[in-house]
Amino acid sequence: MADSGLKRFRTLDDLDVAGKTVLVRADLNVPMRDGEVSDDTRIRSVVPTLKAILARGGKVVVLSHFGRPKGKRSPEASLRPVVEPLSRALGRPVAFADDCVGPEALKVVKGGADVVLLENLRYHAGEEANGEAFASKLAELGDAYVNDGFSVSHRAHASVEAITRLLPSAAGLSMQAELEALEKALHNPDRPVAAIIGGSKVSTKLEVLGALVNKMDYLIIGGGMANTFLHAKGVDVGASLCEKDLKDKALEILARARTTACKIMLPIDAVVAQELAANVPVREVPVREVEHDDMILDVGSDTIEELKHVLRRCKTLLWNGPLGAFEIRGFDVGTVALAREAARLTRDGNLLSVAGGGDTVSALHNAGVVQDFSYVSTAGGAFLEWVEGKELPGVKALQA
Ligand code: 3PG
Repeated sequence: MADSGLKRFRTLDDLDVAGKTVLVRADLNVPMRDGEVSDDTRIRSVVPTLKAILARGGKVVVLSHFGRPKGKRSPEASLRPVVEPLSRALGRPVAFADDCVGPEALKVVKGGADVVLLENLRYHAGEEANGEAFASKLAELGDAYVNDGFSVSHRAHASVEAITRLLPSAAGLSMQAELEALEKALHNPDRPVAAIIGGSKVSTKLEVLGALVNKMDYLIIGGGMANTFLHAKGVDVGASLCEKDLKDKALEILARARTTACKIMLPIDAVVAQELAANVPVREVPVREVEHDDMILDVGSDTIEELKHVLRRCKTLLWNGPLGAFEIRGFDVGTVALAREAARLTRDGNLLSVAGGGDTVSALHNAGVVQDFSYVSTAGGAFLEWVEGKELPGVKALQA
């Protein structure tokens, strides 16, 4: 049982797995290119849990979704391409069942393999409907259930939620580590604590920003989102991405931050260009000197220095979203510089750094510092909902 400071949740130690078949809900919704897995981070993250169950004398049946096939079989959403990388990461053979429920699944599960991967759960409409009947069919395949997919735990789906009512259930090791890391950064941080929230649109992260002004000492806003805030403060952001209709929302957040003593940090200078492309001419200007046809595509060097200074004062950092158009070389300078500074501070033992979200993970990869962060979560939607303070159905279901 782990006491995360929020609510206690059951862990592998609460399950008797010896001689049992354990259904492990993973999130193997991995990036694929030309039918092959192009990033195996999520596959590797479930391996410690699978090994722990096997070492304790259990067998494992891995459940996952892939993509959004909406209740129908579709070849491009098959989990079959994951068998080989999973087997490689685990160091043992993995049997594959062509369906996740019914006779085909039963045959493979009873067939003697220690590790079985079942076909995409979302080929059946009962999965997303959180259907009791579908959950019962899954439950027939095993004796216990482990959720090791934090990144899918914001979905009240049958393999995440309903199944926990049918089998003894607990969090896997990766889920446990993720919950503990997020808890440490968000609810129980060593202070000062900063959040970097970047990305292109304020509209997708309004609730996150609203939640963070109540909890953070510094809220660093970057990426296209910062333009909306600059616009709200009367700065002309020229041709930059900007959600002008959210001006009032941005002003509300700025006003609230003043009452909660959260210091909101916006860029003071920017790298601008007239086109979002590689190798185009760029200028670095104070934000008040952005011209009408300029697009803000990265933070400028004074902003970088100011933000590094903030990080050096902090004990905890939560990061979601890049500071600029980082996928284009030349506009990744701010994100890379801050990522490297956070990594250095973490390596030196002065900062607990927790990052989450697909773009953020790519940005940290790009900066070459993923391994230096205290914790990096591949969760996108689940990470944001957690930061917003929402109760995730998959986590709630494991609480004691
Ligand atoms: C993710 O990649 O964020 C998870 O696998 C959830 O996928 P979904 O948004 O399709 O539910």
